[in-house]
Amino acid sequence: MGVGLEGVAAEIDVDDVAAVDLSQAIEECLRLGSNGYFTFPRIALKDTEVGGTRILKGMVVRPSPLSPNYDPDVFPDPLRFDIHRKPKRILSFGAGPHHCIGNILGRTTITIAITRLLARFPKAHISEPNFVPVYGGAVGELRLQRLPMRTHESGI
Ligand code: HEM
Repeated sequence: MGVGLEGVAAEIDVDDVAAVDLSQAIEECLRLGSNGYFTFPRIALKDTEVGGTRILKGMVVRPSPLSPNYDPDVFPDPLRFDIHRKPKRILSFGAGPHHCIGNILGRTTITIAITRLLARFPKAHISEPNFVPVYGGAVGELRLQRLPMRTHESGI
């Protein structure tokens, strides 16, 4: 949510909110910043090899759901937040049998929150030109520590 707000607030041209496909913009936020360093452990059921690394039966493997979202073969210039990117097949909600059961609820909640914010404050923007986001989070999740915003063009 913090990454969503930060990304959308930083990139939306205040006179051009209607031109942005918000659901795609939120996918881009989820691509870049959903899981942070958080990983979901798995235990290898047999000896195997992934990308040249040997994994022995019984080893704990901690794959990052976020790292495939940064694959430059799939997402060119992957570190760049591009509000028009329309990212496909992001892995922020995992995949396979453990695919996040709450992914629609999560996406809907973020969409409603940002839609309502932009409807109420269409001129909302980041108030510090050189703002550098700082994240916290107990288990590696990207929890934005602060987001200096103004709700109107000047003053408030
Ligand atoms: C932006 C918000 C969310 C993100 C980024 C997220 C991410 C994930 C990821 C990556 C997994 C896969 C875990 C694995 O592979 O072991 C997962 C699983 C899961 N998520 Fe979410 N999630 C979000 C919101 C929610 C919400 C709102 C709920 C419930 C109300 C939820 C419930 C679950 C459950 C129950 C699982 C386990 C599914 C299973 O193992 O069968 N998540 N989530």
